[in-house]
Amino acid sequence: MVIGCGFICVFAVLINKVSLQETVHKEGVIGGSVLLPCSSTEHDLKLQDTDVHWRHNGSENVYDIVKGEDSLERQDLRYKNRAETFPDEYERGNFSIKLNNLTHTDGGKYICIITHSSELRTVQLIINESTAGKESKSTEHENPEDETGSDSVET
Ligand SMILES: *[C@@H]1O[C@H](CO)[C@@H](O)[C@H](O)[C@H]1NC(C)=O
Ligand SMILES: *[C@@H]1O[C@H](CO)[C@@H](O)[C@H](O)[C@H]1NC(C)=O
Ligand SMILES: *[C@@H]1O[C@H](CO)[C@@H](O)[C@H](O)[C@H]1NC(C)=O
Ligand SMILES: *[C@@H]1O[C@H](CO)[C@@H](O)[C@H](O)[C@H]1NC(C)=O
Repeated sequence: MVIGCGFICVFAVLINKVSLQETVHKEGVIGGSVLLPCSSTEHDLKLQDTDVHWRHNGSENVYDIVKGEDSLERQDLRYKNRAETFPDEYERGNFSIKLNNLTHTDGGKYICIITHSSELRTVQLIINESTAGKESKSTEHENPEDETGSDSVET
């Protein structure tokens, strides 16, 4: 067994690759749900050798899939009963998860690390608060400025 540096090491190696990866942008509304996509492009992925780590804002543990099995042992309480997996899809290399009952603090950056095949996916989640209908007076029709030109490469 050569498990010297474990997760931190894998993480560090993958961070170097991240600048080449495309960031997927998703949007959700408070109380709603969103699918956070993460698929492997590896064709002969061996599930028994594969761990998947979903993390939010760099460190919070959203979900772990260990050797192809869901593992909630180290899940952060924030995501308890809110993160849904699709185990039938694992065989196809699809480790997407669904986050339900979205809250304001669910916005931010999600990463999906697929060990063994050393892949990393990044999802940027934006929580659209205009549907929460709190104190937002409808100003959305006045300023149709969209931040379209944003390139998806982030550090
Ligand atoms: C992955 O699985 C989810 C849940 O079933 C599905 O919505 C999504 O389309 C799948 N993605 C791919 C690339 O097959
Ligand atoms: C989560 O959503 C379900 C239905 O979508 C709802 O019944 C439940 O009350 C929500 N839970 C929380 C903590 O908001
Ligand atoms: C994650 O980061 C986003 C953007 O910086 C922030 O709005 C959100 O509150 C953070 N959430 C958590 C749980 O750290
Ligand atoms: C946020 O939601 C409102 C109301 O559903 C919608 O009109 C608006 O286009 C959404 N914002 C974005 C950035 O998609």
